[in-house]
Amino acid sequence: MQNELETKLTDAVIARLSPDADPRFRRIMQSLIRHLHDFVREVELTEEEWFEAIKFLTATGQKCDDKRQEFILMSDVLGVSMLVDAINHRRSGGTTETTVLGPFFVHGAPEIKNGDDMAAGWKGEPTYVSGRVLSTEGKPLAGALLDLWQSNSEGSYDVQLADTGGKQLRAKLRADAEGHFRLRTILPTSYPVPTDGPMGLVLDRMGRHPMRPAHLHFMVSAPGYETVVTHLFVKGDPYLESDVVFGVKDSLIVDFKRNDSASEAQKLGLKAPFYSASYDFVLRPADKAKQHAARAASDAV
Ligand code: BEZ
Ligand code: FE
Repeated sequence: MQNELETKLTDAVIARLSPDADPRFRRIMQSLIRHLHDFVREVELTEEEWFEAIKFLTATGQKCDDKRQEFILMSDVLGVSMLVDAINHRRSGGTTETTVLGPFFVHGAPEIKNGDDMAAGWKGEPTYVSGRVLSTEGKPLAGALLDLWQSNSEGSYDVQLADTGGKQLRAKLRADAEGHFRLRTILPTSYPVPTDGPMGLVLDRMGRHPMRPAHLHFMVSAPGYETVVTHLFVKGDPYLESDVVFGVKDSLIVDFKRNDSASEAQKLGLKAPFYSASYDFVLRPADKAKQHAARAASDAV
């Protein structure tokens, strides 16, 4: 049976929150304390388990550096990232659906021109990706910025590899006057999220596999429009139904069609056989408050 302290402690901790604290912060802390205490009561956490949790969180922090983000991985694997995504992008209204950012986005990808190869020198299946960036009214968003990143054919991002000589398999590309974009790359493959840290152990103890279905990452932005952070997933991948980070949405699954024509490959600057995929990204106007906040944030950097 619970003693009095067990039930009263939650209110006592919440009561210490200053009434002058920022209202949103107060609301978040109140709820966090309540849920955390409920969780501890529900599972009747032992002292050993509590200490294991402290060691786990410490190890998670210690695994992080400028190239590795074990906390984002924890959020992804526990479905929190996709829950935040779902809450914040409720009304899609014809816009491209969003998915996890993941831990491998890096600012300052090399700029390439339409048609360039973002995987020059990397082995893999030659692939051509093209499409348009449009507004919800179907207007081409000339000059929209597409920031792309992907893993190599063995499933590693440049930041996971030693000596890649700078940013690789990443690119920034601008849509042309009609909103068209096109680029060459290699076919993405499915790969495991990093398992050499605390989240790898947790996945293993939960009896879960660490695989993500093959995908290309995109961050698509245009002034005055809401930025879309998303992936294009390769149709037919065996992990589409069991993505370790729950990131797959049907509208983001794309046919990367195989093409054996040497002449068509040559026209695109590729070798046959190659794969091609086409996708139009649709952005909606940012609401005024968000535009103002985004401007203020970028002014502050
Ligand atoms: C990724 O797709 O890069 C990724 C996303 C979530 C966790 C790990 C990797
Ligand atoms: Fe990825």
